[in-house]
Amino acid sequence: MKKKIALILGANGQDASYLAELLIEKGYNVHGTIRRNSVPESQTTRIQSLRDNNQIILHYMDLTDPISVESIINNLQPDEIYHLAAQSHVQISFELPKYTLDVNGGGTLAVLEAVRKFSPTSKIYHAATSEMFGNSVDEDGYQRETTRLAPVSPYGCSKLYAHSLCNNYRNAYGMFITSGILFNHESPRRGINFVTNKVVLEAVKIKLGLSNELVLGNLNAMRDWGHAKDYVEGMWRMLQQEIPDDYVLATGISKSVGDLVEYVFGKLKLDYNEYVKSDDKFQRAEELHFLQGDASKAKEKLGWEPTYTFETMLDEMIAHWIEIYTKK
Ligand code: NAP
Ligand code: GDD
Repeated sequence: MKKKIALILGANGQDASYLAELLIEKGYNVHGTIRRNSVPESQTTRIQSLRDNNQIILHYMDLTDPISVESIINNLQPDEIYHLAAQSHVQISFELPKYTLDVNGGGTLAVLEAVRKFSPTSKIYHAATSEMFGNSVDEDGYQRETTRLAPVSPYGCSKLYAHSLCNNYRNAYGMFITSGILFNHESPRRGINFVTNKVVLEAVKIKLGLSNELVLGNLNAMRDWGHAKDYVEGMWRMLQQEIPDDYVLATGISKSVGDLVEYVFGKLKLDYNEYVKSDDKFQRAEELHFLQGDASKAKEKLGWEPTYTFETMLDEMIAHWIEIYTKK
């Protein structure tokens, strides 16, 4: 039987690297995109072993260049497109608002148009986000597919722009487009400027005598943190459905940044009060205060449930950094 072709946009991202592994395991012919970078050696760090073993075929594509988007989709005619590419950092989106809108909003439009014109049977997964909720919370304390969307960052606005286009193209042209409204998900492969990996990395360095402080912003913000490996399984399941729809993926448990710090330092037998400092440069112009997702729909329709807890996810991240820093 002919292998299915999957195209992952933004192949060296955290999620993309786990997804590529999953799709290879499932027997897909996996293609991915990277952008041009002056330091090519750091562009494939998360997928290097897949590349070395010829398990993924890489192509250049930049979301700000619709010609590159069109050409890859037209040439490949993928069965499934996982659109994960984005400027994904919320705080940086306040400094690069137009770029963030161009890449995440305009870039998504380029993907949708390319599929509509050249590969209309491709199924599309769009990486939407809980950041689109902003500070909306349902009365029972959860956010779900029906919760009002009122983003509080340029990043959140850019994703709502893209999400709205996805709904519009699905309805107007009958395309198979599904948006995964994913809550925060982390792993040892998370960028170190996101709070989980920043905290874990710095705490491990403090433990090993390689650092003596951790500087953070808002410790009161609450997030629903899961593991990226669980969430890419949910993405794949969404594209195996007969009818495209939108789904929340979340753990249903909310913890504060302070809880995160306390757990990680506690695990390393350190008193965080001695090391954690605060600096306004890590505070956001507008903060999203509380996220807690209700993934009942994904559970019921996709049979999806997270396997990691907040604690097991952090334990894995701690073990990862200890191994890196103590390797001979
Ligand atoms: P990530 O690690 O930041 O990966 C994003 C990928 O997009 C990177 O490979 C990046 O390439 C690529 N990219 C950035 N700008 C691009 C452009 N102009 N053209 C083409 N590619 C570009 O993000 P992630 O955590 O894996 O998240 C995957 C997706 O899910 C993102 O869309 C994110 O917004 C969304 N999301 C993430 C979470 C989460 O908690 N992780 C939750 C909800 C939604 P470079 O390496 O060259 O920058
Ligand atoms: N990054 C960072 N650095 N965040 C900090 C810091 C710090 O030093 N100190 C406190 N925080 C707080 C932020 O203010 C925020 O409330 C929380 O930690 C989480 O920040 P991030 O880890 O940067 O993630 P995020 O919630 O803003 O965004 C992530 O999750 C979204 C889904 O809700 C990203 O992955 C987005 O791409 C994703 O869509």
